Amino acid sequence: MRAYVSGGTGFVGSNIVKVFAERHGAAVHCPVHRFVPADEGSFTTERLDLLDRDAVLASVAAFGPDVIVHSMILNDFAAMYNDRDLAWRSFVGTTETLAQAADAAGAKLILVSTDWVFDGTQAGADEDTPPNPVNYYGVLKMASEQAALRSAPRAAVARVSAVSGMHWMRQSTPRVQDGGFGYFVTSIVDALEAGRPFGVWEADNINMVASPSLASECAEVMWRIAADFDAGGVFHCCGAESAGRMELARLACEVFDLDPALLSVTAPDTAAAGAVGEFPIPYDTSLTVRRTTELLGYEPPGIRELLIRFRQQRNTGDLLAA
Ligand SMILES: NC(=O)c1ccc[n+]([C@@H]2O[C@H](COP(=O)([O-])OP(=O)(O)OC[C@H]3O[C@@H](n4cnc5c(N)ncnc54)[C@H](OP(=O)(O)O)[C@@H]3O)[C@@H](O)[C@H]2O)c1
Repeated sequence: MRAYVSGGTGFVGSNIVKVFAERHGAAVHCPVHRFVPADEGSFTTERLDLLDRDAVLASVAAFGPDVIVHSMILNDFAAMYNDRDLAWRSFVGTTETLAQAADAAGAKLILVSTDWVFDGTQAGADEDTPPNPVNYYGVLKMASEQAALRSAPRAAVARVSAVSGMHWMRQSTPRVQDGGFGYFVTSIVDALEAGRPFGVWEADNINMVASPSLASECAEVMWRIAADFDAGGVFHCCGAESAGRMELARLACEVFDLDPALLSVTAPDTAAAGAVGEFPIPYDTSLTVRRTTELLGYEPPGIRELLIRFRQQRNTGDLLAA
């Protein structure tokens, strides 16, 4: 399998690269942008701006992939809202370009997407539930999903949610709570390990409930989508259960042997990253995985199991067997 992975130096992307290349032996090529990994190891890179359509088409054609996994994003809400043209080109435009590239190469396109395509009142949304995004990020991801599904001859959307796990390419990653669940468990573990208290946010205008996932496990589901020639359409790459912020925080304490007495409930820090209050955030984005289980024969792990695997990865610095 030859896999072309955009955003491969990002959090989710670094897990896709590692799972595809190291666990499954795929030949992986990553266009890299500002950050250049020190040690490429099991994959190849080239400097490329995904907004440069002609360069991307040439790059994909030169590599000749069986699958393109598109996990690159402009991960900056302020930039998204301040320059909507740039945001549209970064999300929808790059997806259209990679759909065209996939068509030319005879490859499958897998677009990494999000539970934030739902509005926060659609708890238990499955792969067929119509999206109804409440912020511009959700709109961009929904439009990208449609672009992928309508433009690429063989396309899949892999929605990930409340992602925990290792970033395999960068030492320095966000370590603060925000209005979503990204890096939530990591920030709790970092604080409690250092003996610092952690205020778990509670508010009506943040993402309070979601279906936690482990980035490497999301990547494993993407591998199954890639390996099954006919697998297309929408998939949910998340764990089997949903949880509120405090429930997840307490479970993390149990699994990581940390003191739950250091946890408390607090209002969001509006000055913190994530800019709570500046744009709408969906409240309950819990997902179900009916179609994903049926089509891939995949049984998603529960939250405890995902946290156990995260702890093992953190302790060993290595990916575990699937
Ligand atoms: N993290 C989560 O909790 C979460 C939750 C739901 C869905 N997702 C989805 O997962 C995917 C990845 O998110 P992430 O959190 O892993 O993002 P991330 O860590 O911010 O990574 C983004 C990647 O995109 C690259 N990139 C940005 N602009 C580029 C450009 N113009 N050309 C080429 N590469 C460019 C970045 O490289 P540079 O840094 O070098 O620019 C980086 O490698 C997204 O589709 C997101 O919607 C993530």
